[in-house]
Amino acid sequence: MITLFKNPAQIVTVSTNGKNVKRGKELKEISVLEDHSLLIEDAVIKDLIPNASIVNESEYKIINVKDKVLLPGLVECHTHTAFAGSRANEFRLKLAGKSYVEIAKLGGGINTTVSAVRNSSLDELVKLISPRITYFIAQGITTLEIKSGYGLDFENEIKLLHVIQHLQKIFPITIVPTFLGAHTIPTEMKENRELYIHAITQKMLPFIADNFLAEFCDGFCEPTAFSAKEINLIFSHAQSLGLDLKLHTDQFNSIGGIDVALIHQAVSVDHLEVIKEEDISKVAQSDSVAVLLPGVSFFLNYNYAPARKLIDAGAIVALSTDYNPGSSNIADLNFIMSLAAIKMNMTIEETISAVTINAAKAINLNDEVGSIEIGKKADLAVFNTNDYADIIYNVGKNLNEMTIKNGEVIYRNEIQ
Ligand code: NIG
Ligand code: FE
Repeated sequence: MITLFKNPAQIVTVSTNGKNVKRGKELKEISVLEDHSLLIEDAVIKDLIPNASIVNESEYKIINVKDKVLLPGLVECHTHTAFAGSRANEFRLKLAGKSYVEIAKLGGGINTTVSAVRNSSLDELVKLISPRITYFIAQGITTLEIKSGYGLDFENEIKLLHVIQHLQKIFPITIVPTFLGAHTIPTEMKENRELYIHAITQKMLPFIADNFLAEFCDGFCEPTAFSAKEINLIFSHAQSLGLDLKLHTDQFNSIGGIDVALIHQAVSVDHLEVIKEEDISKVAQSDSVAVLLPGVSFFLNYNYAPARKLIDAGAIVALSTDYNPGSSNIADLNFIMSLAAIKMNMTIEETISAVTINAAKAINLNDEVGSIEIGKKADLAVFNTNDYADIIYNVGKNLNEMTIKNGEVIYRNEIQ
């Protein structure tokens, strides 16, 4: 059966003419079609046709989207959704003037969440995390990356990856698992960092690769976490086991993470709030996606990544919430888009490319999703407005009305 999404006000295709990525100037070209309808068949985009050419409607299953805006299903490419516990106490300290790094040095930060995860069973974690996924789906997100990184020993990192595997079975969206054992050194290993790195490279990574528990290996290159040399070692092992790479780098300090990531052809370099001038052009000339996370700058109240410079230099820029309990307790991709526009000077069109096709590129799924192009998966978000600018203009307001995954309506907001 062919489904017809009939007569939307706009179809924002984010067309790439088959390139499946947008760099530099291309980010602002999002190809908006009016007076067209969308045909999908067998979970795939079949055609985009002028309304005038629709003759025999009875052939189709009709979904009326009159006066609505159709976008590719949104892609959330960097999250730490698999966490337990609360860091509200640390939030109080932050509001009273303590910095994120100071809190981490006092033994708080990531390790606070690690204790909470270690004290939770797999079932408890699945139950705790499930509503967070529902919340993402309600925003029009059809593809979601989730990292481990709050277990920080063999048993608990694997537990978190198993939790993500369970969530993949429960939810209809695509969930992409990333191993982030190299998030920080766990408290009990502070004096034995080589031993922890050894556990990552010799125990965790081989087990994860053998059991297909993660698509990516991620790390955090920062003085409170891992040096560039340590990341290099971890990446060499991960790569030889067939995992693709991502790196949290240049968040607070620039200590060589970008060079290591680019040498290993990491799929993405994430954060970049303090990226050096000379590294901007290196990233821009590479195929690594610059994943920018303005929610962190907002939440921690410090500088924003130089999105404008990266885009103007020709980089592939994506955006994400970085949803986590410590540096961005923000699960609203819509708010992140508005932040990117207001605080990083990205245009409305650039923010749309950054949460669709380029976010898909950051998790290697850009050939399948991220744009409304013939042959791609029928992953869509329908917004309750007739102008796509409203999505970003309405700060923190979810205008998504319908989420479609593989051609099936998986969420419908009846209230709007
Ligand atoms: O992306 N930078 C490191 N990791 C997270 C924060 C994790 C946490 O504080 O729990 C981030 O900001
Ligand atoms: Fe992160």
